Amino acid sequence: MKFVILTGIICLLVCGDALENGLARTPPMGWLAWERFRCNIDCKHDPENCISERLFMKMADIMVSEGYLSAGYNIISLDDCWLDHNRSESGQLQADASRFPNGIKALADYVHSKGLQFGMYEDYGTLTCGGYPGILNHLETDAKTFADWGVDYVKLDGCYADPSEMDKGYPEFGTLLNLTGRPMVYSCSWPDYQIDKGIKPNYTFIGTVCNLWRNFDDIDDSWVSVSSIIDYYGDNQDTLIPVAGPGHWNDPDMLIIGNFGLSYDQSRAQMAMWAILASPLFMSVDLRTIRPEMKAILLNKNVIAINQDPLGVQGRRIYKKSGVEIWIKSVEPSSAPDRSAAIVFLNRRTDGTPTRVSVILRDIGLTSLFGYKVEELFDGLNLGVYRPDDSLTVIVNPSGVVMVKCTVQTKDSIISEKNWNEDNALF
Ligand code: GLA
Repeated sequence: MKFVILTGIICLLVCGDALENGLARTPPMGWLAWERFRCNIDCKHDPENCISERLFMKMADIMVSEGYLSAGYNIISLDDCWLDHNRSESGQLQADASRFPNGIKALADYVHSKGLQFGMYEDYGTLTCGGYPGILNHLETDAKTFADWGVDYVKLDGCYADPSEMDKGYPEFGTLLNLTGRPMVYSCSWPDYQIDKGIKPNYTFIGTVCNLWRNFDDIDDSWVSVSSIIDYYGDNQDTLIPVAGPGHWNDPDMLIIGNFGLSYDQSRAQMAMWAILASPLFMSVDLRTIRPEMKAILLNKNVIAINQDPLGVQGRRIYKKSGVEIWIKSVEPSSAPDRSAAIVFLNRRTDGTPTRVSVILRDIGLTSLFGYKVEELFDGLNLGVYRPDDSLTVIVNPSGVVMVKCTVQTKDSIISEKNWNEDNALF
């Protein structure tokens, strides 16, 4: 009996498939401080924008009052630079007291009182990337502290750590989080640091430990950065697509929509691509000053629905030529053996005039006999019913997208569509 219990405990610590926590069945959504607010700790000169409880409380207020929470963005998360440089006398992590005078538990309570979840940032190594205390050698204490504080989401970075140790360290911390009994979504930077060091990540294993994981460079405020991420995901899709699904997602990093670097079309492009990639959607933007048209992109229900589709399929690049790309993702509803699909037409050209793109639905795998109802998603335009041999033509702005959903039709839906059209006929 003792042996069985012991084996169970050892298995919990090292057996990958014991770690599934049942969370993040669709890509997590929220707000993350890093890309927009970085490590600004100068509250004396910049009290509105420094990393402080005031900033997070304000963002939490706006997430609720301005409709972000009801659109699905339900996590608000710390990133680096929230910590004091020293642990407490009893060895616990503690926040910088001048910037978080009420401590992290009080901030988490405030966030919960708004109906949001609270996200934490830490690092597997000796220090965070910004030079604050990491969790190495304190794994058990810190997992317990996070649970006591009411943390719902943990981003665990990988600076100041040995990437070859991560196959052991990240699962160990994941197990300790689970053992607290508090459900916490686990966001890992594990593969990113391994790839940097020339180690091939074991994604099958990582997917049993982490709910999401980074694998490429940090995003910054430019179209060049967004484009490089899109290329990485297209070029590595045969590795990345199979390992994504409900509970475990590739993370191409934050949404930078509403900041300084992207045009309106490029912002739509980021939103469309992150949706079709089934990426976590973490906004990193000043919600106090975001322009209305950028806010509308972040809140677009049709596009979010593609990201949050319950099938949890990561989209695939199926065409790339002369600056034009076509990406496709299977979505609900299905009518066996056919599935509906979301399609992004992405124009990487910058030669000043929109590009016309035509596809025959059959050529991109849409072969249902009854055809597809095609809707443009950003503006919600009904483009009509297309059969497999029909040609769909879209006009795509430079560094922009057109995104459509092709909903598979059935015999019944064709009849009801016909009745609807006749009932509502104007002439
Ligand atoms: C790394 C991560 C970023 C951010 C910073 C903080 O670079 O990849 O997302 O968390 O650390 O220092």
